[in-house]
Amino acid sequence: MSDAPERWSLPQRRLHAWGAVLVVLTLALSLAMVALPMSQLLAKFLAYQLHKSFGLLVLILTLARLGFRLTRRAPELTGLSPRTRQAARWGQAVLYTLLLVVPLLGYLTAQAAAGPVPTTLFLVIPVPHLLDPDPALYAWLRPTHQIAAWSLIVLAAAHAGLALRHHLQGVPVLGRIWG
Ligand code: HEM
Repeated sequence: MSDAPERWSLPQRRLHAWGAVLVVLTLALSLAMVALPMSQLLAKFLAYQLHKSFGLLVLILTLARLGFRLTRRAPELTGLSPRTRQAARWGQAVLYTLLLVVPLLGYLTAQAAAGPVPTTLFLVIPVPHLLDPDPALYAWLRPTHQIAAWSLIVLAAAHAGLALRHHLQGVPVLGRIWG
């Protein structure tokens, strides 16, 4: 009899749900911040600051999730074939990696950008910049951040779609992580 838990713990379920909402919110803010014209400077500035703030929250939350993930046993993926289990574990590992890398790339992009515009957490806590503005670095970091962000979104959508499919096939994966 395995001593793996039946489902993820309450903190892990909550962090998973908040993480999903924050990533979608940060993405929506990224599209708004770029689309807003310079004539609406205050709205554009606020969208940038909120994008960076929620993006940094994703980083903090992911570190907390990893803390739980590395110190508690995961529920067994019973009901799935060994190959599907392995693919699921790999998918989760890549998602965790992107949830760390995307905000870090964003943080570096914000520093390498011309100006630079200060980074704050919700306009209250100043976030230090470790790099000076660097146009060559920015020209590389910005598209890398953007491509990594969209890879995260596509992989997260596939992750959710597959979980739903397993659920509809009678495998209780959704019950382990939601609710
Ligand atoms: C999961 C978290 C994040 C996601 C999904 C995300 C997503 C994106 C996307 C999709 C873009 C490109 C927008 C476009 O051109 O259409 C972008 C740009 C950018 N992001 Fe993020 N981002 C995240 C976290 C962060 C963080 C933590 C920071 C900084 C602390 C940040 C700073 C930036 C900057 C500076 C740009 C470039 C803006 C510009 O030069 O116009 N991002 N982000």
